[in-house]
Amino acid sequence: LCSQDLAGKKVLITAGPTREYLDPIRFISNRSSGKMGYAIAEEAYKRGAQVTVVSGPVSINTYADIEIIHVQTASQMYQKVKEIYEQYDILIFSAAVADYRPKTTNETKIKKENTDELVIELIKNPDILKFVGENKKPGQIIVGFSAETENVLENSQKKLEEKNADLIVANNVLEEGAGFDVDTNIVTLISKEKVENLPKMSKSEVAKRIFDHVVTYLCKM
Ligand code: PMT
Repeated sequence: LCSQDLAGKKVLITAGPTREYLDPIRFISNRSSGKMGYAIAEEAYKRGAQVTVVSGPVSINTYADIEIIHVQTASQMYQKVKEIYEQYDILIFSAAVADYRPKTTNETKIKKENTDELVIELIKNPDILKFVGENKKPGQIIVGFSAETENVLENSQKKLEEKNADLIVANNVLEEGAGFDVDTNIVTLISKEKVENLPKMSKSEVAKRIFDHVVTYLCKM
């Protein structure tokens, strides 16, 4: 219960959704509440780590000793992570980062008087986890998430490989009691060595399982 097995470790977590603005008041986003990411942050903190969360807009309060860096867009999250990631030992990417953003953001409110049809062009956002995976520093442990609605195992194993992660936490976000905006999750922990299906449990319990896994890695290093 009181084990401090992450004492002296620095943990960076991305959490929550991003907002991709069309104009000053409208954006494209998703249903992420930040619950999963903040549960991971709190578990790391309880185990003695120094914790930073790069967080999209969420309404969660946490311990004062957990550093929260607030961002809104995927580009801002990417810039922030790029700037600081080298200082961290364990990096966990639980944020639901928008894959696309509007190609242009209007500086003023888009007016409906101008047209009956509005076409929004989208362009791809940078992949934060992929960048860190490709530029991983010796000794760093990288944990990615995988939100899928079909072919969960195959798609998630592909992410483990393509994003150069040490562990992927896969969730089927169509399952009841899993994924977005609920207090529980149903995850599969996927590493090169094994695939472990976990039953439905609280997001805090999922966070514990993730760090139990990470700690066994640390011991082997
Ligand atoms: O916030 P909650 O309401 O608690 O919900 C939790 C959750 C469903 C958001 C969480 O469990 C989860 O699955 N997070 C990952 C969501 C996601 O974007 O998955 P993905 O399969 O699209 O992305 C794969 C990985 O790449 C993720 O680690 C993601 O953070 C990362 N990524 C994706 C795109 C991008 N541009 N940059 C990234 O870093």
